Amino acid sequence: MCGIVGVLGNHEAAPLLVEALKRLEYRGYDSAGIATLNEGHLDRRRAVGKLVNLSDLLVHDPLAGKAGIGHTRWATHGAPTVDNAHPHRAGPVAVVHNGIIENFRDIRADLAEKGIHFSTETDTETVALLVQYYMDQGLSPRDAALETIKRLEGAYALCFLFEGEDDLLIAARQGSPLAIGHGEGEMFVGSDAIALAPMTNQITYLEEGDFAVITRDTLEILDSAGRPANREIRAVSIENTQVDKGGHKHFMAKEIAEQPKVIGEAIMHYLSEDGKSVVLPGAGLDFTGIDRLTMVACGTAFYACLTAKYWFEQLAGIPVDVDIASEFRYREPPIPARTAALFVSQSGETADTLAALRFCEGRASTILSVVNVPESSIARESDLALPILAGTEIGVASTKAFTCQLTVLYMLALKAAHDRGALDADRLADLLSQLRALPSAFNTALDRSRPMADAARKLAEARDILFLGRGLMYPLALEGALKLKEISYIHAEAYASGELKHGPIALIDKHVPVVVMAPRDGLFDKTTSNMQEVIARGGRVLLITDEAGASEAADDAWITLLMPQVDALLTPILYALPAQLLAYHTAVAKGTDVDQPRNLAKSVTVE
Ligand code: F6R
Repeated sequence: MCGIVGVLGNHEAAPLLVEALKRLEYRGYDSAGIATLNEGHLDRRRAVGKLVNLSDLLVHDPLAGKAGIGHTRWATHGAPTVDNAHPHRAGPVAVVHNGIIENFRDIRADLAEKGIHFSTETDTETVALLVQYYMDQGLSPRDAALETIKRLEGAYALCFLFEGEDDLLIAARQGSPLAIGHGEGEMFVGSDAIALAPMTNQITYLEEGDFAVITRDTLEILDSAGRPANREIRAVSIENTQVDKGGHKHFMAKEIAEQPKVIGEAIMHYLSEDGKSVVLPGAGLDFTGIDRLTMVACGTAFYACLTAKYWFEQLAGIPVDVDIASEFRYREPPIPARTAALFVSQSGETADTLAALRFCEGRASTILSVVNVPESSIARESDLALPILAGTEIGVASTKAFTCQLTVLYMLALKAAHDRGALDADRLADLLSQLRALPSAFNTALDRSRPMADAARKLAEARDILFLGRGLMYPLALEGALKLKEISYIHAEAYASGELKHGPIALIDKHVPVVVMAPRDGLFDKTTSNMQEVIARGGRVLLITDEAGASEAADDAWITLLMPQVDALLTPILYALPAQLLAYHTAVAKGTDVDQPRNLAKSVTVE
């Protein structure tokens, strides 16, 4: 979602703000803006579109001053226009906001009755006007901000700057993450530590309901009850804050290529020293105490859960429910005793997933999470958080986080199966040793990936594309279709192969390529029968399979892409690669914005 930054520094703030916004641009890129204080005088610049437009504006119309706030927007209320761009200003106050103020209409009506006028369609302007109102009543900036926060409902991370107050920033957090950075006689505010990495690695994460009063030398934090609170300063590792393309054309390409390395690291993290069992952090978890698993996530992380359902059910015999987070809590599902709830999220801040987790508090017997950001809200609110160790993911389309999620979930399923006596020690050691070979299979597949780029150029001509898969390949087909539509804007749908004849087969003609994901596993014959049904109706099949599969079915396919042979249980992790590369190269062929596709943003912190 939106990115927020604040600087109370000893150097010009504008370049620092723009640099930090660059690092946050993946959170939203509809418009951007900054405000600074120059000798107490508040001024701002805002531009629609990518951050580069704001940078250009600042070249012609610079902003001086050593204190400032900045914002990169993903529009919720109001179109992406200059008027609706942040910072919003009302008299002596400027504010940047991430989240949604749910009761802004009530506040607006109240302010309108007092004769206060609005110039934008946003919920955020209400916040600025409310602070101004309280300041007009004689309150100090600090107290006016505090009174304002008390009136707000919804999710927000806010940062305020005040005319005439060269040494003051106020920040508040409710539902959207916010980090304070400590420098030498300087202080910073950021949506995450990545934004602040060039300035400091000394970070304090605000907790839910925190209100922070920041000067260059002091940080005062009040908790949600208004009591002074002490929050630890942590040194954030630089490795986790690096944001560069490493010689690749796009972040997505870099993140795809990183997969052998990060998957390998995730495997080693959870593997026992002798390589024969799975070790969980902290007190771990004994799966004999669990009768059911409820898994909840959004988007790509949801597809990781759908895949893991097969593993947990087949290997460990644990019944698994999988839910889309935005549907889960409003359905109010009963949660039987001895149910573990497991939440999967790259960012660990997805509002729907976090809300679902909170719904399970006090209902599920334990709350687990599989997350990429260990300091995230979802990680912190779990009984056991399992990091996926994918490193920072900047491309809006999730790639390496997906395969690392799958890797960790697979290892968790193996542990569950062993705990429950469904997998003996020898078979566990054997499956783990095959898993250790997975990064090398990824490398082989990456080395052979040129035909995927060639195939993608052909897919780029299509208007609609179908993906088919059966068993473990069904969630992968869903992921392949999602990846393709989000970055290439080609309409893509996925179906369980056997479901095709129950309706979607009507879509098949020679103009609709059908991607069939079918390793030569126990379901191969069934899937290839469905493939023949497509071919019989003039459909063109792009078959993704291994050598054994190709020797049986390649002759009938339009294009065949060959994957290395791996254990059938591991195919969903490996076959994520062609799904990602087909989407990537199709998007490149179409010339779309691969890393920042239209209408999207990473880390969706609004419901
Ligand atoms: C798609 C994608 C999204 C995310 C979803 C959940 O490529 O990245 O579908 O998977 O928004 O985000 P997290 O995992 O951060 O909860």
